[in-house]
Amino acid sequence: PTIRLQDYRPSDHLIDRVDLDIRLDPHASRITAVLALRPNPAGTPGAQLVLDGDELGLVGLALDGKALPAEAYAATPAGLTLHAPPQGPFTLTVETVVDPTANTKLMGLYRSSGVYCTQCEADGFRRITYFLDRPDILSVYTTRIEAAREEAPVLLGNGNPVETGDVPGTDRHYAIWQDPHPKPAYLFAIVGGRLGHVGRSFVTSEGREVALGVYVEPGKEARADYALDAVARSMTWDEEVFGRAYDLDVFNVVAVSDFNMGAMENKGLNIFNDKYVLASPETATDADYANIEAIIAHEYFHNWSGNRVTCRDWFQLCLKEGLTVFRDQEFSSDMRSRAVHRIGEVRTLRARQFPEDAGPLAHPVRPKHYAEINNFYTATVYEKGAEIVRMLKTLIGEAAFRNGMDRYFSENDGTAATVEDFLAAFATETGRDLAHFAQWYERPSTPRIAVSGHYDATAKTYRLDFRQTRPGAGADAPPLVIPVALGLIGPDGPLTATNARVRDGVFVLESAEDSLTFENIAAQPVPSLFRDFSAPVRVEMALSDAEQLTLLRHDTDAFNRWESAQRVALRILIEAARSGSETLDGSEGLAAALAAFLDGEALRDPAFAALMLALPSEGEVASEIGANIDPDAIFSARRRLRQALAARLRDQLAVLREQLADPAGAAFSPAAAAAGRRAFRNAALDLIAVADPERGAALAREQIATAATMTDRLAGLATLAQIPGEAREAELAAFAELYADEPLILDKWLAIQAAIAEDDTIARIGRLQRHPAFSMTNPNRVRSLVGVFSLANPTQFNRVDGAGYALVADTVLALDKRNPQIAARLLTAFGSWRQLEPVRRAAAEAALRGIASAGGLSRDVADIAGRSLAG
Ligand code: ARG
Ligand code: ZN
Repeated sequence: PTIRLQDYRPSDHLIDRVDLDIRLDPHASRITAVLALRPNPAGTPGAQLVLDGDELGLVGLALDGKALPAEAYAATPAGLTLHAPPQGPFTLTVETVVDPTANTKLMGLYRSSGVYCTQCEADGFRRITYFLDRPDILSVYTTRIEAAREEAPVLLGNGNPVETGDVPGTDRHYAIWQDPHPKPAYLFAIVGGRLGHVGRSFVTSEGREVALGVYVEPGKEARADYALDAVARSMTWDEEVFGRAYDLDVFNVVAVSDFNMGAMENKGLNIFNDKYVLASPETATDADYANIEAIIAHEYFHNWSGNRVTCRDWFQLCLKEGLTVFRDQEFSSDMRSRAVHRIGEVRTLRARQFPEDAGPLAHPVRPKHYAEINNFYTATVYEKGAEIVRMLKTLIGEAAFRNGMDRYFSENDGTAATVEDFLAAFATETGRDLAHFAQWYERPSTPRIAVSGHYDATAKTYRLDFRQTRPGAGADAPPLVIPVALGLIGPDGPLTATNARVRDGVFVLESAEDSLTFENIAAQPVPSLFRDFSAPVRVEMALSDAEQLTLLRHDTDAFNRWESAQRVALRILIEAARSGSETLDGSEGLAAALAAFLDGEALRDPAFAALMLALPSEGEVASEIGANIDPDAIFSARRRLRQALAARLRDQLAVLREQLADPAGAAFSPAAAAAGRRAFRNAALDLIAVADPERGAALAREQIATAATMTDRLAGLATLAQIPGEAREAELAAFAELYADEPLILDKWLAIQAAIAEDDTIARIGRLQRHPAFSMTNPNRVRSLVGVFSLANPTQFNRVDGAGYALVADTVLALDKRNPQIAARLLTAFGSWRQLEPVRRAAAEAALRGIASAGGLSRDVADIAGRSLAG
């Protein structure tokens, strides 16, 4: 059944208070819910009460304390209907029993390594009890959790702890938690289990003392310190940058090892995939530290953007997710290097969101309809949603943005809001009409901005002509409001170019076509456009390599310096992939420019320099080519360009690699400076290995043996993994033995092997699926092996013989019976199948049709398969 935004109407009933009594048991957990209900004045008078359920069994039902006769209600696993509920307030007591051990969907109440936990977003609460499971039903919750003390000494809930005690005459105990803030059911959570923890106290700007805790598997407490520190830094940052203080006496984070997504912002009780909590120098990479910091911040920031102000319905998902991604990006940028972080954000957007926008799964940032909401936690809603918030800030300026945010929070506090409410706060604040800007939310498509520059040497003017088109948005799609941050670069550096329509360096393109003329320009300039990636668009401008590389040398905008080298590389790669010719026209110019850049700046900013060395990914090249894609041709073009660059840069890289070595005995630091040096050294190692595999293999093995950090050890292994031979197999085997008890580390070992671009990888994955390190029941394992294969190994996934598609399709079908969400996510790897060349296209389509016609599919997988084939 399709659910449509236009069909939204308020619920006929409200639930003001929820009193839960949850008696945990491995196979028969008993939930008693006392719901304080009343008719909604905004609903239909006299309507029946229809509560949601999902695979539920009803064991007791009472209205105002009295058992209901059978003819008064109808109960199925999927719902509970009261035919004639009272016209005034009433209480409903609902008793259900669920089996958390058998819950393999990891939605609702389940067990992960013996720990009881919950996941209720988007619609998991209805797997615990019958409820109005929709985000515009806000209730105050009190939760009593009871369990065997031996099995679950720790009992955590939302809000503040109010009471604990023993259940007399039994081996059981209980804890009562009360959350004073009204919330939707998707933010409900409990945890019960044997857990270790680290804690500290935090005093908010309002003087509230908060007990912070991070709970992990016993024995791993030392690996929770970094996450705990990140919680405190997030709290301080949100107070300073957004004026948002925390609002409960406790804030807990719990790490669990079986989790469908990254983490969840349950009120006062964030539950995390353990890979985004656990870190120590010996076990975590620099990327792990950065992810932990970002995701801890993301979930914490939801306390205001998502929890205090929540969403009216799931079509408004970007209201909390896009905004919260924007907030966590800003936090990470403040904690680390802003330019380096911005480049990372854009790479993610281009790798995930641009292809989504160009394929059959394309949807607006605010979708208009859905069959399964869990399939809409997408790069478009999250990442493009964040870009819209960023553009809004660029358009109205920093001060107005902050004031608008304050207004949004205060006007909507305690309510379930919409995108319109969000924009209204900024419209009121600035006096601007944001109706046109709001179009960004309405339709899919990545806009294309064609720009041409015209220099008039006599008049000394330079004119830029802009034209925007929106492929795939529909012929009647109106032009968008597009902030273009820009500047002009002369042969020797930036020019002062003024035009009344450029304010604070930003020109706003609002129509399909527009032009901008600059006066007093002495010589033909090079335009630096979309500085800092000021809009999520594709730019088409015919600049020569020489002009691009002028930007690399002279632009003041770090993003565009990086972008200019990427553009040259992309042009070379696309031409080489199309022609198949051995020569790479322009690679020497690029190599020379990179050499000059490294000379001047690698020592000063190694993290940025590491990004300069990274070529556009195979996926990005494919997405730029857009049609009739041959992944083998792209791979080979990319390999040849890497060889050309490596041949030219290898000696320089070897010297820099030594110069950027950590001083002997230096203490480990996960901070950006040290991580940046590691990033550069390892990018250099990788290129040295391309130029000279024998030398590369020797350096990689030495690094694996002597590495002081997991970053360096894994980088050595990843480099070695590109070099076929016995040394590789021996090091892979030794690594598996060394970390046999470290599943999160072996995930990276699985991922490195899944990404090997060799014919034998399919067989290798078959072997790994039978390795003790792998498990089909753990989402992290599946993502590391099969997910990485499907996303990061384009030549093998897209094998002409279809074996790559078959591997992924078989996994999807096997997984769908246990965990539809993970199966559906994996299936999105087929999202760009229509852009392939005909032979692969046919093979991919056959695999998709095989899935679509399989019996007993989940709604999740049926939805992705159906849309992939229909689009
Ligand atoms: N709200 C979570 C976040 O921080 C994502 C949870 C999504 N879970 C799901 N089953 N769809 O982004
Ligand atoms: Zn989120």
